[in-house]
Amino acid sequence: MSKPIYILNGPNLNLLGTREPDVYGVQTLDDISVLCKQKADSLNLTIDFRQTNNEGDLVSHVQEAQKSACAIIINAAAYTHTSVALHDSLRMVDVPIIEVHLSNIYKREEFRHKSFVSPVAQGVICGLGANGYELAIEAVHKIL
Ligand code: DQA
Repeated sequence: MSKPIYILNGPNLNLLGTREPDVYGVQTLDDISVLCKQKADSLNLTIDFRQTNNEGDLVSHVQEAQKSACAIIINAAAYTHTSVALHDSLRMVDVPIIEVHLSNIYKREEFRHKSFVSPVAQGVICGLGANGYELAIEAVHKIL
């Protein structure tokens, strides 16, 4: 069986739906996971959709992806802007990496303009809400 796309979600994304809906929308993370599954099915791809609030777990999931995933789609949430450990783990992976954010981080506070993920990502999608995840799956499909 072919390897899944790891779709990795960072801290506080488990609260989507109630968390600042004006910024992040009203869809829950479960809603987004269903959208991703439908999109992947339509392209004959499989996904492994995960969320963690823990930086070390996110790093471990990236390390695991090196042998178990065909690509990584990652919304590292706040760790995007802070985590050298996450950056280092992504550097070591040689599958395609797409960075996703629901909000347009460049329209927001300056501390969100710095991403430790972007320098090691093949592409970045931000500001398109949940649709960004679907577009990222389409991108992986074209890249593979
Ligand atoms: C986010 C943007 C980050 O700045 C923020 O810390 C998040 C979510 C987004 O999807 O828009 O938690 O990654």
